[in-house]
Amino acid sequence: MSTMMKEHATATEMHGFSVTDSPASKRLKVVMLDEKTTKAFAESVAEWTVQAIEYKPFLRFEVADRLDKITNQTLSAVLNDIIRDRETGAFLLDYAGDPGVGDSEEARTEFNVKLSTAISHLVGLSNHDAMYGQYYARFTVRNVDSSDSYLRKPHRRMELHNDGTYVNERTDYVLMQKLKEENMEGGNSLILHLDDWEDLETFAKHPLAKQDIVWGAPKSKNVDTKVEHPVFFEEDADGKPLMLYIDQFAEPSNKEQGKYLYEMGESLEAEQNCLSVPVPVGSMLVIHNHFWLHGRDKFVPHPDLCRELLRQRGHFTN
Ligand SMILES: [Fe+2]
Repeated sequence: MSTMMKEHATATEMHGFSVTDSPASKRLKVVMLDEKTTKAFAESVAEWTVQAIEYKPFLRFEVADRLDKITNQTLSAVLNDIIRDRETGAFLLDYAGDPGVGDSEEARTEFNVKLSTAISHLVGLSNHDAMYGQYYARFTVRNVDSSDSYLRKPHRRMELHNDGTYVNERTDYVLMQKLKEENMEGGNSLILHLDDWEDLETFAKHPLAKQDIVWGAPKSKNVDTKVEHPVFFEEDADGKPLMLYIDQFAEPSNKEQGKYLYEMGESLEAEQNCLSVPVPVGSMLVIHNHFWLHGRDKFVPHPDLCRELLRQRGHFTN
């Protein structure tokens, strides 16, 4: 009991940032770095370019550590508490004030990449992103698109899914950061907590819930192999289901699997408890990848519509 109380006491201490509930849901926390923290972090990592951090993986942990030190190590404690707790498991992190890196878009983007690198490495370790060839991926959504998945398609809703379905690597969490946005209307992030999904029982207790299904990726993902796993691939410490599902990349091998997946997709898209979350430029949404599903709402068409995003997918290291 004393250990639990101690852990709780540590986790609720905060230096240099605040935590509030999102208006969308108590499950989603809003973490705001103070102005002083923003500036101090920018200064503490000014000696490294993003390129240096790409070339030397150990610098990613150093970047994280510098931010944590500014908060007397309370930020890592709080973020890990939020992301691992089944009741929450999601936060939107933003920063107050100007980091003081100058007004150029490039300098601001460099700062944003460093900040998301710090956050990711406070909760775990970013996986290599085969699509982009780095520990993160940057990609742009425009009005016209010719790619082979719904990732960059602007005028339709991207259905709720988990990441990491077609790789063998664990994807415990997903970080999605907004780097730039022009002429955008709509396109909020959509997230759904598994325990808020009305039909969870129907699908998690279904005879096919634990049956292996084949998952493969389209060409642009640069992943050649296919993997096999059930949709409900694991349970957490309390026996609650964890999910690993995406409609686009499942390859059902018979009519029963096809129907199971089809009905699951229909149910998820009709779910009223799905949250619609705006993500301002510079801020990032970080979610537990196996008890939250994510997607994106459609945008209003505009010829000069442009949105640049960064994602990091990672695994917990302990
Ligand atoms: Fe995704």
